[in-house]
Amino acid sequence: MAVHRTLFEGRPAWVLETRATSMVLGLGADDTLYLPHWGARGHSERIADYLPTIPTNRPSEATFLDGQPLAYPVYGMPTFKEPCLVVAAPGGARGARFSFVEDRLEDPEHLELVFADPQLELGLRLRFEVHPALDLIVRSAIIDNIGPRPLSLERALSAALPLPPDAYDALTLHGQWAREFELQQRPLLPGRLVSGSSRGTSSHEAHPWFAVRPRGEQDEHSGRVWFGSLAWSGNWQCTLEVERNDALNITLGIQPFDFAWQLEPGATFGTPALVCGFTDEGLGGASRRLHAFEEAVWLPANHRPTLRPVLYNSWEATHFDVDAASQIELARRAADLGVELFVVDDGWFGGRAHDRAGLGDWTVNPTKFPRGLGELISEVHRLGMRFGIWVEPEMVNPDSDLYRAHPDWAYHAEGRSPTFGRNQLVLNFARADVRAAILEQLRRLLSDHGQIDFIKWDHNRAWTEVGWPEQPDQQREVWTRHVVGLYDIWATLRAEFPQLWIESCAGGGGRADLGVLRWCDQVWTSDNTDAADRLAIQYGYSRAHAPRVMVNWVTDVPNEQTGRLAPLRFRFHVAMQGVLGIGGNITQWSDDERDQARALVEQYKQIRPVVQHGRQFWLRPPTAIGACGVEYVSGDGATVVVLLYQIRGLRGQGARRMRLQGLAPERRYRRASDGYESTGAALMAAGLPATLVDSGDRHPSLDWQSQLQIWTAETR
Ligand code: DGJ
Repeated sequence: MAVHRTLFEGRPAWVLETRATSMVLGLGADDTLYLPHWGARGHSERIADYLPTIPTNRPSEATFLDGQPLAYPVYGMPTFKEPCLVVAAPGGARGARFSFVEDRLEDPEHLELVFADPQLELGLRLRFEVHPALDLIVRSAIIDNIGPRPLSLERALSAALPLPPDAYDALTLHGQWAREFELQQRPLLPGRLVSGSSRGTSSHEAHPWFAVRPRGEQDEHSGRVWFGSLAWSGNWQCTLEVERNDALNITLGIQPFDFAWQLEPGATFGTPALVCGFTDEGLGGASRRLHAFEEAVWLPANHRPTLRPVLYNSWEATHFDVDAASQIELARRAADLGVELFVVDDGWFGGRAHDRAGLGDWTVNPTKFPRGLGELISEVHRLGMRFGIWVEPEMVNPDSDLYRAHPDWAYHAEGRSPTFGRNQLVLNFARADVRAAILEQLRRLLSDHGQIDFIKWDHNRAWTEVGWPEQPDQQREVWTRHVVGLYDIWATLRAEFPQLWIESCAGGGGRADLGVLRWCDQVWTSDNTDAADRLAIQYGYSRAHAPRVMVNWVTDVPNEQTGRLAPLRFRFHVAMQGVLGIGGNITQWSDDERDQARALVEQYKQIRPVVQHGRQFWLRPPTAIGACGVEYVSGDGATVVVLLYQIRGLRGQGARRMRLQGLAPERRYRRASDGYESTGAALMAAGLPATLVDSGDRHPSLDWQSQLQIWTAETR
């Protein structure tokens, strides 16, 4: 049973169990909800055993709840730690104090704990959804106004995750445009480490994911790791707070900065889901659990089991110079390489000759497509590919029909000049009329030209002057209403166009979170397509998300962002780590390059089920010098794909072996390229026989080496 009831000093308590973990919840005498244990399965029957001793150096403060493991600290409780909830009543009274009402065990995997503050007439429901096979628990909070007065929420986070006093390291993902998802590990010292975004999107700068492990631990494949990922695509905050007794209070949720929500009588506010878990299989084990969750539970259901197609994207080939002839030429070349989905990027609509015009007008540019879009769509379909198109519906250029008709539809601050980012402004998606008008344009786009199978939904600037002067009461709600409105549009489009695939993009990986992945099938991870940089970006992204949602393109050299020259094979091998795409100007590729590309696309299709549905193990993370490797093991364990890379070799370093992971020790595995055989035990203990270049003698270069190995297990 996933959830069972028990007692904590005679009071109600609950044990949430997964295959290998348990989370224990118990009510204190004053109805405070404790979370005394979250970690390895097997718990003491005496929940009190887990509670840290209150520091006794100042006995008069022993009544405070600091340093105690609280499941949802609320402003109004006697604690000074980072709270999850702050509520204000109309008369100015602040803070809440909840009493326990009941537990609802909807089924063995869904627990809801119901609390109420009778004075405020406010309800609080804490939800726990247990996924036993995945070792994950999904948490959220629902706040109900059960009285006659409006109440104001000033903060409503998803959950708190307390850990006992110890020395911990935090792992977080940071970056910037073209350098997203850099994994940082740092010690947690007394005080608060705050990561988050207030840019409107979840952001390039920080990703709504965290992991925590015992201080100094580095191992990829073993060791205790607690982790979480927040399903929210707007402003968010994660606080990792070391309290005075060295206990850790982790909170995650919607960014409290400039957040407020007016809760009218009878209204309810639900927080985003926080998916959290524990493993003793290191950071790799944490990542694989999140990957499995996306695949088994979370991604849009209709395409969830489907292999992601090999795609072509026109951006780096034609930029804004999109027209029917250039795209038809690219489409024919793409089909010849084995591409399955052809995507026309930015430049096809409105007055979009450059980035100063057109956003907001989602109609086909008649000069670029004199016979409409239908001609290109039918040609792409005739070539046996699906057809996809780029849109950026949350944005508007002042040079557009939409803006000329409705300048007030963009966020703006009365009397102040707007700040432009890429010459564009952000549309106020908190407004129902704006959403309806944009949705109507998208409906027409998707219905009027032949079947559009795929849209790439972009978002290219952070939000500033986020004002809605006509609606002063909802000023601090717009950040949240925009995101909810966006999810609504995606839900509507998916319902009305069930064949549609959606790819999320935000100037690369600026909005690539679990929130978008509820509605989008995949994401564009970065505008940086340089294969060397990309290794690091993809490594970081795959800490939190599955390879099957991570789109990677093979582009031209010198690389548009870095000027680097990596061999075509290396570029393909890097892009094969997730959803393979091609994004170069393939009309300029030589016959030899096209032959190579055709063979590599074919090889990718062969390994694709293992890459997209298997378990991923990083064998060695990317570094500037020396080898790095990543492995994928199929669900039945019978096929193993290994990708090895060396950007820069070190002469005389000697061959390094790479120890494989996740094999059956007693089984024999055979390498397809040369028939070499070994046991799972040997491949995991001694590692792969050395195969990457280690000396300048036999090879022209130590640099840019890459290999794809396919191993098959003997049938039992
Ligand atoms: C940013 C995206 O990340 C690129 O792939 C491309 O779609 C451009 N926007 C187009 O403006």
